[in-house]
Amino acid sequence: LADLSVPQIRGLLSHSLHCKQISKPWLEPQSGKKQQLRMPSQSLFNKTVALLFSKRSTRTRLASETSVALLGGRALFLGSEDIQLGVNETPRDTARVIGGMAEGIFARVGDHAEIEELAKYSPVPVLNALSSLWHPTQILADLLTLHENAHLFAIPDLNASAEPDYKNMKSSIKTRTRAKGGLPELRPLTVAYVGDSANVLHDMLVTYPRLGHSMRVASPPKYRAPPEVWKRVEELGCDKDIWWGEDPKEAVKGADVVVTDTWISMGQEAEKAQRLRDFHGYQVTEALCREGGANPDWKFMHCLPRKQDEVDDEVFYGPRSLVFPEADNRKWTTMAVFDMFIGKWFIDPIPEKE
Ligand code: CP
Ligand code: NVA
Repeated sequence: LADLSVPQIRGLLSHSLHCKQISKPWLEPQSGKKQQLRMPSQSLFNKTVALLFSKRSTRTRLASETSVALLGGRALFLGSEDIQLGVNETPRDTARVIGGMAEGIFARVGDHAEIEELAKYSPVPVLNALSSLWHPTQILADLLTLHENAHLFAIPDLNASAEPDYKNMKSSIKTRTRAKGGLPELRPLTVAYVGDSANVLHDMLVTYPRLGHSMRVASPPKYRAPPEVWKRVEELGCDKDIWWGEDPKEAVKGADVVVTDTWISMGQEAEKAQRLRDFHGYQVTEALCREGGANPDWKFMHCLPRKQDEVDDEVFYGPRSLVFPEADNRKWTTMAVFDMFIGKWFIDPIPEKE
């Protein structure tokens, strides 16, 4: 998301909501009537999107296969056991060959350098489905979920005392307003992240502050985000709205939203024992957030898959949790991204001479 401007990100979110509203067959709660479905953009008609996944996936794969179908195209899943990449063929040659037969590549890779190389040599758009450093489509889904749930976040009365009056805050909730494009407006939030500094957090760091939200992060010192991530954070001016420390209680102070991710990302299985030791005390619980002084109405988010290490069942399955609407929204945000960045993208012709 560091590669996208704020208007582009907002545009994608509005478009995601539009895709969801016209494509999802749901019952209107009041009327009990089925919503009128409309034909979504068919920008992928006659087009193929290659899903180049070198790691496991449930949500990202489902989101991409189902949304390509809705956009009238064909998704072609290419797992690491299926193709020559990494065994008999380089990313450079693979990108050129896939780009000759498909109109876009959605790639889940190990080291981030792999997707940079695919992008460098691909004649068609390459979108990141998760790499060691970033997970952009996840954060779009998180943002859509927050905007859709904007009414859950109370607006403090700025004329009152310096300390927000949490007890009476519900009465001061502003009615939900909708920005252009139908996306509900979201007040500036304090978003706390407790746990491993990995791909999901990194995309939050380059995005949330640009959208007006402040971030508070707690992670053990040796897990601080790597220099290439900080470089992007600073270039985008996001660093001034990020508090970073070691203490999880300090991080959740005033938090409207608390987010975490697994402590053991895909590919880090050999470090499991060490990581479980290093992250001891970082589990998100009701007690942690109460003692740390989170907004009493705080909500919880997690990209999934989840383990009990990083968040207990009480929070994960409790009324604060937005994790399943968040997972559902992977589909609509991925659909919007494919429509805008593959279906409606100008396809560079493959050069005659290589
Ligand atoms: N959140 C997410 O990316 O899940 P998957 O790994 O199942 O795709
Ligand atoms: N940080 C996790 C995210 C999974 C969606 C991983 O990379 O495995």
